[in-house]
Amino acid sequence: MVSRALIIHPSETAARELGDVLLPLIESDWVASEDAAGRQLEHADYSVVVADTKVLDGDRIVAETLSKRPDAFLVLLMSELEAGRAFEESHPGKVFRFIGSVGERWHLSGIVAEGLKLQKLEQEQKALIRKLSLETGKLQKREKLLDTVVKERTRELQTAYESLQAASRQALLGFAEAIEAKDPYTKGHCGRTAVFAMALGQEARLSDQDLETLEFGAFLHDIGKIGVKDAVLLKPSPLDEAEWTQMRVHPVVGYQIATQLDMLKPIMPCIRNHHERWDGTGYPDKLAKENIPLLARIVCLADAYDAMVTDRPYKAALPFAECAPILRRQAGPQFDPDLVDLFISRGIMERLK
Ligand SMILES: [Fe+2]
Repeated sequence: MVSRALIIHPSETAARELGDVLLPLIESDWVASEDAAGRQLEHADYSVVVADTKVLDGDRIVAETLSKRPDAFLVLLMSELEAGRAFEESHPGKVFRFIGSVGERWHLSGIVAEGLKLQKLEQEQKALIRKLSLETGKLQKREKLLDTVVKERTRELQTAYESLQAASRQALLGFAEAIEAKDPYTKGHCGRTAVFAMALGQEARLSDQDLETLEFGAFLHDIGKIGVKDAVLLKPSPLDEAEWTQMRVHPVVGYQIATQLDMLKPIMPCIRNHHERWDGTGYPDKLAKENIPLLARIVCLADAYDAMVTDRPYKAALPFAECAPILRRQAGPQFDPDLVDLFISRGIMERLK
């Protein structure tokens, strides 16, 4: 857009002289009154307004210019520079420069050149800010979109992972049930062991995470029985020493299975060490006391208690009243005494009869 100056002056001759001074920089139009200036500013765009306010109303010209051409800058011709200072005090920052005497009007060219230069810089700055804010807006939109896509993908992955985990868990539990189902006398044993172990774990104030591991560990503690021959596993009479030797490999077989499956790693101690004894004479590692992992100690007690209260081929279920004295006798040699105390004193047996 070509920039122009508007000269507001009651004298056409004086206005022409001012126009001539400005001509190398900018072409100008002339109007003689405030009314005409208002109309002209309405219809045409101006970069600079030069007004003689010795006779014309400076307040009105400033107001008209600011409301109709807010980007234009104003140069006011006053009778003397003092009047300019007074005007500046009452209209701070609204007029670019004041010119106070006829002689100084010849400075108009330099003043307008400076004003146009500043105006150009200001316009470039505004354009840059507009461009930056546009780019920022685009970036923010892109970022938001990316964020939504990432969240959506994360949710999908999480759901897929959870389904996979649930399926793996179901497969493992099914596997354990299948092993258990081979022997009708132990059917339901793992599930009941998990119930007793969880009741004890809650009384021992285990964390939610440990309780979850305990439940899974109790359910799958005998997974290594897959490696025990049916003739031994299903034998309807007490095992001889050779058979016991075979039977005693199941915690290690289970442990070896667990090393191949990430899901089983947290429950390895329950699988490997549920036949350790408090006095250190258990198997397979002969661990003693607190060296036996706590979750394995809990599974050990829950496992043994379920064996006591369940019919087996070579023994009938013990009456409930006989279990507590046996557990007390084995607290120390076989079981963690504190866990036996909790098991009996908190009424877990009565609750889960
Ligand atoms: Fe076992």
